[in-house]
Amino acid sequence: MAKPLSRFVCQACGAVSPKWQGRCDACGEWNTLIEEAAAPRGPGPAAKAGGGRQIEFVGLKGESAPPPRIGTGIAELDRVLGGGLVAASAVLVGGDPGIGKSTILLQAAARIAASGRRALYVSGEEAVEQVRLRARRLGLSETPLALASATALRDIVASLERETEAALVVIDSIQTVWLDALDSAPGTVAQVRACAAELIRLAKARGFALILVGHVTKEGTLAGPRVLEHMVDATLYFEGDRGHQFRILRATKNRFGATDEIGVFEMTDAGLVEVANPSALFLAERRGNVSGSAVFAGVEGTRPVLVEVQALLSPSTGGSPRRQVVGWDSGRLSMLLAVLESRCGMSLGQNDVYLNIAGGLRIQEPAADLAVAAALASAATDRPTDPDRVYFGEVGLSGEVRQVSQPDQRLREAQKLGFLQATLPKRAARAGRVPAAPEGLALTEVGHLADLIAGFAEASVKKRQPA
Ligand code: TYD
Ligand code: MG
Repeated sequence: MAKPLSRFVCQACGAVSPKWQGRCDACGEWNTLIEEAAAPRGPGPAAKAGGGRQIEFVGLKGESAPPPRIGTGIAELDRVLGGGLVAASAVLVGGDPGIGKSTILLQAAARIAASGRRALYVSGEEAVEQVRLRARRLGLSETPLALASATALRDIVASLERETEAALVVIDSIQTVWLDALDSAPGTVAQVRACAAELIRLAKARGFALILVGHVTKEGTLAGPRVLEHMVDATLYFEGDRGHQFRILRATKNRFGATDEIGVFEMTDAGLVEVANPSALFLAERRGNVSGSAVFAGVEGTRPVLVEVQALLSPSTGGSPRRQVVGWDSGRLSMLLAVLESRCGMSLGQNDVYLNIAGGLRIQEPAADLAVAAALASAATDRPTDPDRVYFGEVGLSGEVRQVSQPDQRLREAQKLGFLQATLPKRAARAGRVPAAPEGLALTEVGHLADLIAGFAEASVKKRQPA
């Protein structure tokens, strides 16, 4: 039987299938399979050539110097990177179009250039004049950043080969770069992968830090940057929606640092501005004395973040009730509603439930359960939560409230921001004694979700009459 000459590659996840299918078996996306020429079979060139050099294997013990870092001058970005860019490494920055990827990278590159290092910015999306215009808006026109507009990989590589001093190279975006040796269109998995591999190889050889920008699109016409994630050393995602001024930078992979750190920025007329105290910002627009609102004392990475959880209930108009969640896991909300119903006798089945994390932050911690439950109970009973109270704690299926990590840090942040009360899981004694509460903070420990609900008087749903 003849060898297949082509294969079908999913443009969303990179899975390979021998035949065309409407839906990718691996990731479940529709209409993402595109035909590509198959890679040659048989032993690779390395095996054929033979006579390789002997590798030296070493033990785990021993001294290795930490990798040299290049500070970007943007503390929030450095924090997410784990202390700055690492020389000879590759970072992928993903995010929806228009979220601010080009803006922050232009700012970072300009800062590095201003510090006396050579930084290059290659834009494949915008003309030189457009980038200049943005730089002028950002007040960066005077920085010695090297700017070019190019999309042909051959040209980019030829130019970078000659760079001996480069500390940083930004490619904006990897989806616009193309290699003429490949038949596929720019942005397809084959192109993106081949171009990224070449650029990463160059970064390792020349010792510069490489930043690749990648768009995330739902349509699947462009290759999602997912296929790149295993090739790069770190992947950062820029989150937030364009309607909000907050932007969250989150690492999902980092070979040189932790992955749970976030950087918080605010999009302003003068570009992205770092937010050193996100809690104050996220709570800035909170209005007291409104039912359905509770403050969650969360932790993102090493940093405590207080955010407002908002819940709204409205009588369902036939059919199955709606469950709309922004910024939290909808599966988790369903679970919490089930626990509230079967363990606490609080039925919300006849209501549409809307849940929102104010400010555009996306929370992944289960520790938010207790705050969400408080917001729901408050909405259901039409009784506001105490305006000076924070909540945190995980809820189990039997309604028990479980311990979460770093309770002391959460409490300290609440105290710092002027909160006076906290509802939290029963604290376990450490070394024979229960840790002391921060001064001025009254703690309410709850062992079961029902204890929390009892505080909200009768937990029956108040159905508002339409006005
Ligand atoms: P951009 O960095 O071009 O996004 P991406 O590269 O991720 O596609 O950001 C574009 C948006 O940011 C655009 O809607 C305008 C806005 N913006 C500001 O609000 N202030 C600024 O100073 C700049 C440069 C952009
Ligand atoms: Mg851009």
